[in-house]
Formats: sequence, structure tokens, C-alpha cells
Amino acid sequence: MKGVILAGGLGTRLYPLTKVTNKHLLPVYDRPMIFYPLETLVKAGIKDIMVITGGTSAGDFLRLLGNGKDFGLEHLTYAYQEGEKGIAHALALAEHFAGGEKIVVILGDNIIEKDISKEVQIFQKQKKGARILLKEVDEPQRFGVADIKDKKIVRIIEKPSVPPSKFAVTGIYMYDSKVFDFIKTLKPSNRGELEITDVNNRYIEIGEMTYGILDGWWTDAGTFTSLLRANMLVAKQRGSL
Ligand code: G1P
Repeated sequence: MKGVILAGGLGTRLYPLTKVTNKHLLPVYDRPMIFYPLETLVKAGIKDIMVITGGTSAGDFLRLLGNGKDFGLEHLTYAYQEGEKGIAHALALAEHFAGGEKIVVILGDNIIEKDISKEVQIFQKQKKGARILLKEVDEPQRFGVADIKDKKIVRIIEKPSVPPSKFAVTGIYMYDSKVFDFIKTLKPSNRGELEITDVNNRYIEIGEMTYGILDGWWTDAGTFTSLLRANMLVAKQRGSL
């Protein structure tokens, strides 16, 4: 299976930290943010990885990560997103790279404690469709939230004011090649973006969405508070706090 890291966007919620650099290059404890999702994929046995970014700092990713040697990789693939039109819009750039294979997608600001090998193996055996990872959180309204009935996700609501559950959809998604056909049919949301939640809801509609519950802590790092939390969690994990 191939891996895709989505590391574009303007990082407006972290302005002015993101005025002259990309969010995913900011430090999380002792390393740049992008190292963490890259390591998550590598630890899960994924060696063929594409980094998708954009904006004016795109060249810095190449300088920082090179061919992925520091992560034990033989090569890394890059794509450039023109404009900031959302997660699903960025993912569309991986169609050629995926070449019809199943993919594991991770958002560049998602940092986790444990590893996702088991989940990736489960999806490897899944004949078709998608699999997402959920995590119970205190503030579900900040995320995509799963509405679960009889242990099945019946729909996902993006940033609901009244969350149907406490289960946030993490930024780790596994898809078969239909994902690219679904993306082509999407319309921009109220925030003017092609939403990954709309893609996931398509899989739910056709009955091809499975899910797992992520083990260990999970955080995004796209706001001041969550970036601080990510720093603290990693520092604690390293025994420095
Ligand atoms: C995105 C997704 C959301 C998901 C979150 C995980 O939100 O749209 O469904 O729960 O990532 O980090 P964003 O960070 O773009 O607001």
C-alpha cells in the first residue's frame, strides 16, 4: 500500500506563526511537525510515500526531507497543490501516484502516540471501500464527528454545533481507488473547500466504510492550543516533562 501526507493549506488558525512558513514545518517539541506523520506511515510498513504541499514554502519540504533517507526510505515523491482548496482537492493530486492501489492518507498535523500497523493490516485484507480511525475526544465540535448506530457509522458531520457522538474522525484515512472518482464529483463547502468528510460520506452511502478506534493519544496541531498540546504530549512521551 502507498502513503500520502497532506501538508498544504494556509495555516490561518496559527497566524502569524505561519506568515513566513508552512504549518507542517513548525516545531513540535524537538522536530518539525511533518516528521511525525511521516514516521507514522513508515512504522506501519509503508515505504512508498507522497508529500503534497503548496504555497511559498514548498521548496523547504524538499530541503528538509530530501529523498527520505533519514526515515529509512529510498525515495519520496512530492506534489504541489495550486491554491488552498481543501484536503480532498489536495488528495486528488495523488491519483497518478496511487496507480489504482489502495492508499493510506494522513494529515500532516496529526500526531499520534502509538502505531497504526494493525489497522493498516486490517485494511489490506478489506476487499474494497474505505476505513477511518476514530478517537473519543472532549471537544468533538472541532472535528468531523461520526454518528454511530448499531456499531455502524451512518454519517459524518463536519464541525457540528450539536455533535452526534464524542467520536472525532482523525486525519488518518484508508481508501481504495474509487476515492479519486468521488473527489471529482465534490462541490466546495461553505468554507470554499473540497471536504474529506464529503468523500467519507460517499463511502458510507454505498456501505463500504469501516472504522477502527485509534489506540493511544491523538492530537491535531493546527491551533495554538492543539499545537501546544502536541508539544506537551511529545515532550512527556520522551520523558522530558
Ligand atoms: C480536518 C477534517 C476533519 C477532521 C480533522 C482531523 O479538519 O475536515 O473532519 O476531524 O481534520 O484533524 P480541519 O483541520 O481541516 O479543520
